[in-house]
Amino acid sequence: MKKGNVRCIFSILVCLLLGAKVYHMHAHQHDYSKEIETLLSRMTLEEKIGQMNQVNFDSLSDELLQQVENGEIGSFLNVTDPKVINILQKAAEKSKHKIPLIIARDVIHGYKTIFPVPLGQAASFEPAIAETGARIAAVEASEHGIKWTFAPMIDIARDARWGRIAESLGEDPFLSSLMGEAMVKGFQGRDLTAPTAIAACAKHFVGYGAAEGGRDYNSTSITPYALRNTYLVPFQKAIDAGVLTVMTSFNDNDGIPSSGNKYLLKEILRKEMRFSGLIVSDWNSVGEMITHGFAVDGKDAARLAASAGLNMEMNTGLYVKYLKRLVEEGRISISDIDASVRYILNVKFCLGLFDNRYLNISKESAIYSEKHLQAAREAAVKSAILLKNDNHTLPLREIRKIAIIGPMADAPYDQLGTWVFDGEPEHTVTPIGALRDYTEYKDIQFVYEPILRKSTDNDTVNFRKIRQTVETADAAIVFLGEESRLSGEAHSLSDINLIGYQSDLLREVKKVGKPVVTVIMAGRPLTIERDLPYTDALLYCFHPGTMGGPAIWDLLFGRANPSGKLPVTFVREVGQIPLYYNHNNTGRPAPDHAKTLYDKSGEKQSSVGDVSFYLDSGKEPLFPFGYGLSYSEFKYSGLSLSSKKIGMKGSLVISVTLKNTGNMDGTEVVQLYVRDRVGSIIRPVKELKGVQRVNLKAGESKVVRFVLSPDDLSFYGMDMIRKPEPGYYTVWVGGSSNTDLQETFLLE
Ligand code: NOJ
Repeated sequence: MKKGNVRCIFSILVCLLLGAKVYHMHAHQHDYSKEIETLLSRMTLEEKIGQMNQVNFDSLSDELLQQVENGEIGSFLNVTDPKVINILQKAAEKSKHKIPLIIARDVIHGYKTIFPVPLGQAASFEPAIAETGARIAAVEASEHGIKWTFAPMIDIARDARWGRIAESLGEDPFLSSLMGEAMVKGFQGRDLTAPTAIAACAKHFVGYGAAEGGRDYNSTSITPYALRNTYLVPFQKAIDAGVLTVMTSFNDNDGIPSSGNKYLLKEILRKEMRFSGLIVSDWNSVGEMITHGFAVDGKDAARLAASAGLNMEMNTGLYVKYLKRLVEEGRISISDIDASVRYILNVKFCLGLFDNRYLNISKESAIYSEKHLQAAREAAVKSAILLKNDNHTLPLREIRKIAIIGPMADAPYDQLGTWVFDGEPEHTVTPIGALRDYTEYKDIQFVYEPILRKSTDNDTVNFRKIRQTVETADAAIVFLGEESRLSGEAHSLSDINLIGYQSDLLREVKKVGKPVVTVIMAGRPLTIERDLPYTDALLYCFHPGTMGGPAIWDLLFGRANPSGKLPVTFVREVGQIPLYYNHNNTGRPAPDHAKTLYDKSGEKQSSVGDVSFYLDSGKEPLFPFGYGLSYSEFKYSGLSLSSKKIGMKGSLVISVTLKNTGNMDGTEVVQLYVRDRVGSIIRPVKELKGVQRVNLKAGESKVVRFVLSPDDLSFYGMDMIRKPEPGYYTVWVGGSSNTDLQETFLLE
């Protein structure tokens, strides 16, 4: 059965009311309904339930192979040995219906060749970076038999305490959608039946990033408006891009855990959002409904999840244990079971697994190919954000000798960041490794003295070596940040200053009097306001991956020009969280001088005329969303609109002239923001609606155009229907969310 170039996410929707089967197909998708129905009609209830069971692979045993042969397991996660996978697939082929297994793994930002953490990739504002990264991850992972990854994570993340912000694509629905969609395309490729295609998984459905207090797994309360206007936006984009699977989240929202939330899965995900792929639970999230206090016991948890429409259960085995009995007792309908099995079989058909389940082990490996490494280097270059560059400290010129200091200068595991099950530190090129081994940097003289070996080192004995290390050099490059274990799942922090003695280290280095350049590698936006005065330049790299070292030198030495922009707001103080650019306006927004109100002495306590801000840290973040410097300077002028009025069927062309007034060629991420002045519900003060990376030679200028349609302005208003509302809008174009070059138009 050859499926050719078929891009197949196909839709199966069980029409619940009629109990009938309705298949929704895109024109270009292959319809496997016949094959699926034939199989389904022959399967026993036990075999159906077996397909709904995803098991964590531990080790091969006769008992396990027997279970596979009996059709009790539909999927494994965490097996990466191709030989073992072939043995397991052989056992599946011996089962009555020969249904192949689907092998899953968390391949989040690379399999072996590790790209920057997703938050870093988002900083490139370039979907092609994310798509290429995901494609390369799929090529490498599929070589070892992985056909399903649990990525992209498209949870909106507005709290830097939350360790998984590293795995997110930032705070903004538009940017997360853009990058998430690109990742889906990258993982799944153009032809799902190709050996290198792997199923993507949009996760976590839903609201996981809104955990109260940034504490992982914590409860969320998301209003129906915020759900649809913010949290669901990237999921809809992923669905429209054909994502084959969705994972439910650990958290409860308003008291209902996602894995047992029938309304969320059946009404919103299936009906409103028209998702027709497979819904998988998170690890133990079905069993954890007992701990939440939502399910009485394992049987109750299985019942709640299955009737909510959760198709495959990860790890606890509760489906296998209880679903049969629940069906016999009439507490779970067979149509729910059949619907789940259809979704699961469909993914297996789409991926061509029925025809091609075995791996060709002897084939040449693409892992760590030069092409992959170069792509990872380019991604790391484009993901780094220049936050400070006083007196043109960077790029480093006429510098003969540098002093390298700090715990992240040679931390091969830690610069890979969170979620690198398969990344290998021995393949990482650290900044020190690049200077030692890369020919292009062989002329650079350097001394290396970490002073602190780990960010968490709690003694300062080596501080006495700082002066002698820095004194003989022309500049000090200080590598600070967080080791990878300080961000990621279950790694939330309540203090997000530079950990340990790192700030003290920076101050001591500065005292020597040489130019100081700081490079921070971290999984989250840290609170670094207090550190800024002690560095002349600051390059921020969300953990940059395998090729972080050479990428950083490319930037510091000016072989490349920084172009990354912040995908998240940098707060001044942890107490400002959550602070994000696209917030609603209060009735008392703070004026620009709000911070100075704090300094007025002798005033009486009063609330009249007061505004929304913090007395101690004001209303502004340290760095706004979309911010990032370049070695070039970009000047925006001549913002103009094709019309001052558009109708509901019209569209608007927005043009601006961008000039590189610096003396280096560079790239600017041009950003388009919009504000709907008055809405049936309050609209955000600014919303990103377009981005373009524009390359400009020194001195060159270009006209940059965006097209905006009423659909781009749509949102769920008071009546909960997605549509644009007539009225006045402001548009801004600029190099960050803080731009003030603006125009107004009317939508009629
Ligand atoms: C738990 C995480 O929340 C999820 O993102 C991941 O895919 C699963 N574990 C499987 O490892």
